[in-house]
Amino acid sequence: MCGIVGYSGHRRASEVLMDGLKRLEYRGYDSAGVAMVEDGRLVLLKRQGELDVLQKALPKFEGRTGIGHTRWATCGRPSDRNAHPFVSCDGKLAIVHNGIIENYTALRERLESEGHHFTSETDTEVVVHLMETHFSGDLRQALADTVREIQGTYAIAAVLEGSQEIAAARKENPLVVGLGVKENFLASDVTALLSHTSQVLYIMDGETVSLTPNGVAVYDHDGASVKREPSVVTWSAEDAQKGGFEHFMLKEIFEGPNAIHNTLLGALDLIENGDVLPRMDFQTVKLVACGSSFHAAMVGKYAMEEFAGVPTTLELASEYRYSPGAREAPLVILITQSGETADTLAAAREARRRGCRTLAVTNVVGSTITREVDEVLYTRAGPEIGVAATKTFLTQLLAMYLLAIRIGYANGTLSHDSMRSALSSLRQSSNMVQSVLNHIHDIEEASKMIDKADHCFFIGRNINYPTMLEGALKLKEISYIHAEGFAAGELKHGPLALLDSTTPVIAVAIKGDHTYEKMLANISEVAARDSPVLGVGLEGDTDLSRLCERMIFVPPVKPVFSPIPVTVALQALAYYVANRRGCSIDKPKNLAKSVTVE
Ligand code: AGP
Repeated sequence: MCGIVGYSGHRRASEVLMDGLKRLEYRGYDSAGVAMVEDGRLVLLKRQGELDVLQKALPKFEGRTGIGHTRWATCGRPSDRNAHPFVSCDGKLAIVHNGIIENYTALRERLESEGHHFTSETDTEVVVHLMETHFSGDLRQALADTVREIQGTYAIAAVLEGSQEIAAARKENPLVVGLGVKENFLASDVTALLSHTSQVLYIMDGETVSLTPNGVAVYDHDGASVKREPSVVTWSAEDAQKGGFEHFMLKEIFEGPNAIHNTLLGALDLIENGDVLPRMDFQTVKLVACGSSFHAAMVGKYAMEEFAGVPTTLELASEYRYSPGAREAPLVILITQSGETADTLAAAREARRRGCRTLAVTNVVGSTITREVDEVLYTRAGPEIGVAATKTFLTQLLAMYLLAIRIGYANGTLSHDSMRSALSSLRQSSNMVQSVLNHIHDIEEASKMIDKADHCFFIGRNINYPTMLEGALKLKEISYIHAEGFAAGELKHGPLALLDSTTPVIAVAIKGDHTYEKMLANISEVAARDSPVLGVGLEGDTDLSRLCERMIFVPPVKPVFSPIPVTVALQALAYYVANRRGCSIDKPKNLAKSVTVE
């Protein structure tokens, strides 16, 4: 989730750019930079860290045209040299980029063989070198020719020495032009424009733009001019930061499909080519994590045993380091979205001390865990502001499936066809999540069944037992309702004593799963104690809905992948319950986004 800003007009570009970058700060970033046309020449400044670091280093530039960027590292760790903008070998062009260039390795090899010198580890840098090869006087045309060679997703902005023009292009990454008087603006997020103008032009996929102080010209994929009426933005700056959503948590739940898409884009090749876990000589896998990440690990255990047939154990990170220690040297997978959780870091060090191979699954490039382990698999959920893990948890589930499929294929448990079919199911998961979100108002309605309760149970079996633990954690952390998750078969061993008409029970039963009939029996037991049951099941499942007071439906899905849509439904449920109770959703009391104490 990087940010782009651009300006061409009569004011000092550096001031407008820094103001825009500041307004994108809420998205999170690890480095930032600007490129400006100063006395006809391009000047560049970029720094790892907070915007203040860049601000302090910034001289009083007089240039009136420039571009700026905040970076959330995905390809190449956070550093000054990996920060954007990037400049061409001849120093005449500079660019910034959001997105992922999937074919950058091949492009880089080709460009290097043609004599281009690269200065960073990023995928982005190929863009500026490609533009240099295409440039023959027309900046926008050079960009249009460049993006034809790129596979992946992008919003790109480019500037040229001696020129007031900014060229930009978009594919699956937002880009918006702000219209002023004798000045025009560019941004990846309307938030960056609101203090200057409310008149905007949204750029569509496949389009390119040329922007100067005196005008904006938009072109379609074939180079034909596009006429578009400006839109008027009515958001306040605060609203816009949240993209119009009331809370970051809801925004981040809605970012689920994109987070899945980006995680798959980043990891599928690695998994299929065997670049992750090239050595397969381990007999057991141990999964170690805290909180929501531990629930992802629990799903991972089911997936690992289903797809790879490898015995898999689980340990809470806070317990692992104090345990007696395994005799064998297994593969230890540490799951932490922040990469900074103290217990998980300590567990990583302990695992290495015990001679285990270690692999981290994390969302933050350059986070501490990445320096403590042998290998890293990144989720690509983008920055998550709400304390409750939502899209990061979702992408951890994806990572668990990907690793299980990778190991299963490599050790011969999965045939080539089964591996392809499992990956193709995973590719569908972003649509499944979108379909849950399309019916989110049903979930909002269902929240009325729970918002007055003091206690609430979540029950499930098999791979949806951890999903329900996560549903309960989500509800308790943001709504402060006492919520517990149980393996449904355990109810009769004690918790059933607590049930009555004031204790709602959320029960998941996925038709087709081998525990489905048993779940129906457990739900009947609950209903017989007068507890109101909110069922979660597949669209059209009348056997389940007959037993439940109310239903949340998810789209048809293979049982093994059902935690993906079920998770999103439960995140939304927790959100609406907490909202109805007027809770501080993004910053729940007593909790922090990353827990850096043991
Ligand atoms: C989840 O909503 C919580 N915020 C919390 O349980 C979190 O998952 C836990 O602290 C682990 O964090 P990590 O993934 O950054 O290691």
